[in-house]
Amino acid sequence: MPEKYIVKKSGVYWPSKAMKEIAYVNSEEIYKEAAKDPVKFWSNLAETGLLWEKKWEDKNAYVEKRPYFWWFKGGKLNFSVNCLDRHLDDRADKDAVIWVPEPLDEKPVKLTYKELYKKVNKFANVLKSLGVKKGDVVGIYLPLIPEASIAMLACTRIGAIHSVVFSAFSADALKARLKDGKAKVLISADGYYRRGKKEDLFEKAKKAIKGTRVKKVVMVSRLNKNRKYSGKFLSFEKLMKDAPDYCHPQTVNSEDIMFILYTSGTTGKPKGIIHDTGGYATQAYWTTKWNFNLRDKDVMWCTADIGWITGHTYATYGPLLNGSTTLIYEGTPDFPRPDRWWKIIEEFDVSVFYTAPTAIRMFMKAGEKWVKKHKLNSLKILGSVGEPIDEEAWEWYLKNIGKGRCPIIDTWWQTETGGTLINVLPGIGPFIPTVAGRSFPGTSHLILDDSGKPVKKGKTGFLVQESPFAPGLLHGVYKNHKKYVKTYWKKFNNKYYDTSDGAYWYKGLLRITGRTDDVMKVAGHRLATAELENAIDDSKIVNESAVVPIPDKIRGQVPVAFVVLKSKEPVDNAADLEKQIKKHVDKKLGPTSRPARVYFVEDLPKTRSGKIMRRILKNILNKEEPKGLMTLVNPQSVEKIRKIVWGN
Ligand code: WT7
Repeated sequence: MPEKYIVKKSGVYWPSKAMKEIAYVNSEEIYKEAAKDPVKFWSNLAETGLLWEKKWEDKNAYVEKRPYFWWFKGGKLNFSVNCLDRHLDDRADKDAVIWVPEPLDEKPVKLTYKELYKKVNKFANVLKSLGVKKGDVVGIYLPLIPEASIAMLACTRIGAIHSVVFSAFSADALKARLKDGKAKVLISADGYYRRGKKEDLFEKAKKAIKGTRVKKVVMVSRLNKNRKYSGKFLSFEKLMKDAPDYCHPQTVNSEDIMFILYTSGTTGKPKGIIHDTGGYATQAYWTTKWNFNLRDKDVMWCTADIGWITGHTYATYGPLLNGSTTLIYEGTPDFPRPDRWWKIIEEFDVSVFYTAPTAIRMFMKAGEKWVKKHKLNSLKILGSVGEPIDEEAWEWYLKNIGKGRCPIIDTWWQTETGGTLINVLPGIGPFIPTVAGRSFPGTSHLILDDSGKPVKKGKTGFLVQESPFAPGLLHGVYKNHKKYVKTYWKKFNNKYYDTSDGAYWYKGLLRITGRTDDVMKVAGHRLATAELENAIDDSKIVNESAVVPIPDKIRGQVPVAFVVLKSKEPVDNAADLEKQIKKHVDKKLGPTSRPARVYFVEDLPKTRSGKIMRRILKNILNKEEPKGLMTLVNPQSVEKIRKIVWGN
C-alpha cells in the first residue's frame, strides 16, 4: 500500500506522521524563528543552499532603497554552476531532465547531470562564438523540449540575460519582446507537436525578427532533423557538434540581472520583469525544497511551459538547483486520450506533481475513468498554482489524483515574485480547499484597505508585502523605472509591494480572492484587458472595443469583447466578423488570448470624460441590473447592448 501523507482531524486535513517524518520542515517554529530576523534567516539559507564564489559582507546582506532593494550585495556566483557543476561529484549519472515527446512512438529522452552539463557548456560556447557577452539579452522562443533548458542554462553560464517568449505567442508578440529587450540573438526551433499536429515556429520566428536587432537565429530541428538553414538562421545541431566541451562559468554579482520575462499589466504593453541572480536562486532553491519536499529519488513534474515563470522556477531551475529530476512533457494533456498525464506519472514514478486548477477542471470534465486506468502510487505531493482553486476542483484533485493520501500545496505567487510566497508547507499544514496559507518563512504579507490600514478580520483588502522584501521579488521593469514605480509601489506610497491581488484572513491563513486590477486569468494565463483591446482595435474594421472577463467553468475566466465597427452599416454577418476578429487576435497575440465571444455594438457605455464603463458590460453579461447609468453620456447604449447580448 502506498504511504498516506495526510490525516483528517475534525474535518480538516493535516500532515500524517509519515509526512512529518519525511518533511524537511515540520514545526511552526520556523515561522517565528524567521520573523525574528528575516535578513539573517535568508542569509543563512543563501549560504547553505548555494555555492558562492565570494560571500557578501554582513552589512550588505540586504540593502534597501525603496522602491529598490538588493540581496547579498557584493556576493559572487554563477547560476549554472549551482544547477550543474556542483552536482557532478555525487549525482553525475542521475537524471536531471526527463523529456517526454508528444508522439507516442517517439522515445523519451533522459539527460543525466553529466550529459546536461556537457550540452550546456557546449551551447554556452556557441553563444559566445555568436558574440553574446555578459549582460546581453538573448531571446528564447522554444517549445517544451530539452534544448529550452539547455539554452536557458547556457545563458546563465556566460552571464547573458535570457528572455523566454512562450512558443504559442504570435510573431508580433515575439517581435515586441525582442525589440524591447534589444536582443541580438534568438534561439528557436522549426516547430513542435501539439495534439498530434506539427506546429510551425520557423515562419513565426522569421517574421518576428524583421525590424529587430536580431542578427543570428539558432534553430533547433525538432520536426525535421535534416533541415538546412541559411542567412541569419543557423542549425543548433551543427553548431553544437563543433563547440568545445567546456565553457568557463562567468562570475556575476548576486544583484546582476539573470533574466527578464514579460507579463501583462494593466496597460496594453507587456512589462519586462527583471529577476536578479542570487536572490532569485535562493528563493527558487528553498521554496522548491520545502514546498515539494524533494528527496533524492523523487521526480518532480511541473506541467507549466518554460514560457511562464512557473516553467522557469519549478520545471527547470528549482529542481536542478536541488539536484533533483525534473520531467517535462511536450504536448497537450489529453493527447491522444485524456489519460496521457496519468500514464506519464505512472511510467516515470513522478512523486511531485504541480499543475493549475484549469487543468484539473478539464480532467474533471473528461471523467474519472481516465484516471482509474493508472496507478498513481508514486505520488507524494500535489501542487496547485495560477489562480484560486475552487473547492470542487480541490476535492476532485485530492480524491482522484491524490487518492486521499497526498497533500495539496496551493501556492500563491506571481511572475514578479520569482518563486512561491504564500502556501502551506507539507509537513506543517493544514490543507484547506481555497486557502493558500501563510507567507513563506522570512516574508510577510498584510491585507490593507484603501487608506493603507490593515483590514479587520474577515474583510477583503489589498494584499501587500512588507519589508524586507522577498529575495526573489522583481528588481524592476526592464528599462522602465516609471512603470515599476507606478505598478508596484505608488498605491501604498513606496512602503509596500502591491501585489494587485485581493485577499482576506481565514483562521490566521491567507485566502486569495483574485486580481484587483484590469488583469484577468484565462486558464491560469495572465491577460490585460487593455492588451486585448489594443489588439482588437488594431484591426482595420474596428473603431473601438471593450473587453471584460466572464467566469468559465474550465478556464476560470474568459474574455468577452464588445466591438464598435468603423462601418456604420447594420451588422448582418456577425458570425463572419466574429471569426475575423478572433483570427486577428490570434495573429496579434496568439490563440491563448482569443476572446470567447465578440458582440458588435453601436456604442459603448461611456462617462462624460470618455471612460468606458466595463462594469456595466459585466453587469449585462451576468444578467445583473446595471447601476450608475446616470453618469453615462450615452445611457441609451446600455439597453441596445442588452438586447444584443440577451435578445429582447
Ligand atoms: C497571478 C499571477 C504564480 C505563477 C503563475 C502565474 C494569481 C497565482 C494563485 C493561487 C490564487 C493565484 C494571482 C496572481 N494566482 N497563484 N495559488 N491562488 N491566485 O503567474 O501569470 O504572474 O499570475 O495569478 O492573481 O497575481 P502570473
